[in-house]
Amino acid sequence: METINNPQELQNLCLMLRSDGKKIGLVPTMGYFHEGHLSLMDAARKQCDVLIVSLFVNPTQFGENEDLDAYPHDLERDSRLAEEHGVDILFTPARDDMYFEDHCTWVEVPDLAANLCGKSRPVHFRGVATVVTKLFMTAQPHIAVFGQKDWQQLALIKRMVRDLNIPVNVQGHEIVREESGLAMSSRNVYLTAEEKSVAPNLQKGLKKMRDQVAGGETDPAKLKADLADFYAESIPGCSVDYIEIVDPENINILKKVDESALCAVAVQVGKARLIDNLLIKV
Ligand code: PAJ
Repeated sequence: METINNPQELQNLCLMLRSDGKKIGLVPTMGYFHEGHLSLMDAARKQCDVLIVSLFVNPTQFGENEDLDAYPHDLERDSRLAEEHGVDILFTPARDDMYFEDHCTWVEVPDLAANLCGKSRPVHFRGVATVVTKLFMTAQPHIAVFGQKDWQQLALIKRMVRDLNIPVNVQGHEIVREESGLAMSSRNVYLTAEEKSVAPNLQKGLKKMRDQVAGGETDPAKLKADLADFYAESIPGCSVDYIEIVDPENINILKKVDESALCAVAVQVGKARLIDNLLIKV
């Protein structure tokens, strides 16, 4: 495995690889790998000749009071894991190499960013769309794999690629969970042992909602209120950022749950803001 820091060097190499007919796969990450990240690498590995993983904690997707400086990192461990999972190139640019001081070009997908995380984190998706575009331009991938854990991010990137005619096949990969049901996340390290023991109730609540829908309940207000009650009871001290039921493709809020629906939640548990979601097929 080769580690490259310089975007220009990576782009030159990738343009050459493409002209040699190599199929390039990209998995964008912010590092501190867990099984979720590794599953994306495994999925991409099977479909490409050259697998590139980017590891960049992108400052423009963090709000002012968020955890940019506290974001966990362990480059040595990440490099080892990437190599074990067949990564050919680990791209680890410095912040200054990704953004000029006077950077002023942004990619925005406002309709897809209007709800859920986009509502509570106003600059977040502008930062995500911009950095993913830059990574696509730099690594020139044929395919790129993203996790469904960040469903809204995936939907937004798919829309961006469609709207801007970006020639990348964007693929979604299912959520990888711990045995307890807790969705894996780099931010789970912020949880205390006690918080970690109740955090699986995030998914448990989503499954209860799915059962309620299967039982005939179609009113989002009732479903959301019941889920909020369940979280208040089963995750002591938590604070719900949002519980929403949306159209899985355009992320519009549904007035009635009578078609395929995505229930997405964000809950603050101690220092960790946890997100999870479940696709409900009616
Ligand atoms: P990061 O949070 O590091 O996640 C990198 C990729 O791993 C994303 O596609 C995310 O959806 C996926 N992922 C995270 N947890 C997962 C899990 N439990 N199961 C499956 N996939 C999971 O998402 C980002 O970084 C950034 O926003 C990025 C796209 C790199 C842009 O900066």
